[in-house]
Amino acid sequence: MEKKVTKSTILKMKKTGEKIAAITSYDFLSTRLIDRTGIDLILVGDSLGMVIMGYENTIPVTMEEIIHHLKAVTRARPRALVVGDLPFMSYQASVEDAVRNAGRLVKEGGAESVKLEGGERYVPVIEAIINASIPVVGHLGLTPQSLHQMGGYKIQGRDEKSAEKMVREAQALEEAGCFALVLEGIPWTLAEKITDHISIPTIGIGAGIHCDGQVLVLNDMLGIYDNPLPKFVKVYDQLGKRITDAVSAYVEEVKGGRFPTKEHSYSKIKESEK
Ligand code: KIV
Repeated sequence: MEKKVTKSTILKMKKTGEKIAAITSYDFLSTRLIDRTGIDLILVGDSLGMVIMGYENTIPVTMEEIIHHLKAVTRARPRALVVGDLPFMSYQASVEDAVRNAGRLVKEGGAESVKLEGGERYVPVIEAIINASIPVVGHLGLTPQSLHQMGGYKIQGRDEKSAEKMVREAQALEEAGCFALVLEGIPWTLAEKITDHISIPTIGIGAGIHCDGQVLVLNDMLGIYDNPLPKFVKVYDQLGKRITDAVSAYVEEVKGGRFPTKEHSYSKIKESEK
């Protein structure tokens, strides 16, 4: 069995220059399949609100929903490091809320670290969670929980002032003790600058090639989620179409009396079943 990925493995990858491959997962079977690929990090993201629950955005996602899916993922005992996402309003109101909820993701869900969105003003929250022995991943740029504050899903850090602010925020999150930083929806030049300025790995989504790693939402890259996707998503398969085609074939065969054939039927009645 390959060695378990830990926080230290992820930190070391920046030093050795090995790229970090991360992906989201929300259930037991997908996690088993994904974990055979050499993936380094699995995020049980609040994106589950959109791709699993059918919410319009990630804001309604609850702690219970994240824990429910974390349990399914960690039951697969993946080699990859499991990161649980802190949902909207699970850490914003107080440091105490944040520590308690981060603790729930680890204790009830089996997460090995937690992720939260936001910059410098979350430094006390991050420090308190780390003091409770829970590793933290930061998340800067286009942070979907701030949808209303941003006025939509807009690429962040496009002007000099906000770009400089983001570099400072990344440094503050590193100093607070984050072991990795997700950079979402920012110009690749800014992602490159942040990646060069900090010693913890950056994991990009819509942040270009120069990040230390990449993360994608599983359902997006498999072509299952059929809502419009942002430009940064590369769709590696069309599983959505394949699922519809397979189930259509089944429906046709059932309606046409062509399924089940003898191959899928039992021929003899056992004595004990009479
Ligand atoms: O919730 C999520 O899946 C995320 C990733 C897109 C980084 O935060």
